[in-house]
Amino acid sequence: MDDLELARVALEAREGAHAPYSRFRVGVALLCEGGEVVRAANLENASLGLSVCAERNAVARAVFDGKAAWRRLAIATDAEGFTPPCGACLQVLREFVPDGDDLEILLVNRHGEVQGRQLGDFLPLPFKDYPREEGS
Ligand code: THU
Repeated sequence: MDDLELARVALEAREGAHAPYSRFRVGVALLCEGGEVVRAANLENASLGLSVCAERNAVARAVFDGKAAWRRLAIATDAEGFTPPCGACLQVLREFVPDGDDLEILLVNRHGEVQGRQLGDFLPLPFKDYPREEGS
C-alpha cells in the first residue's frame, strides 16, 4: 500500500472518532509488517481526562491482534496544518519499535496532503530501559 492510499484510509478512519467535546477528529492507519492495516480514531469522554488518542487506540488494537511490528503510520486530522502526535502517543509507539529502527509517520491534513517524518524526529530520546536491580 503506498503513502497516498494509507493516508486515504486514515482520513476515512476519522469517521470512527467520538469527539463531541473537542470536535477534533483524528484517524489513523497503521500498516503492519504483514501488510494488514489497523485503523483507529480518538475516543473522548465527558470526564475529559479519560479521552484516548487515536494513535494509542491503534497500538492497543494492533498489539492485541499480535501485530506489533509495523511499517508505517498515517495520522489524519481535521486541521489545516500537519499535526504531530502528542508526547504520550510517541512514547507508547516507541515501545514497539526495536532499538536501532525507526517508524515512518505520515502526517495528513484535512485536504489529504501528506508530510513524511520519522518517529525519532519527534521523540529523539525516549524513555526506554527500566533500571532494574540484578536478579529482581
Ligand atoms: N488527539 C489524538 O487523537 N492524537 C494526538 O496525538 C493528539 C490529540 C485527540 C485527543 C482529543 O480527542 C483530541 O485529539 C483533542 O485533543
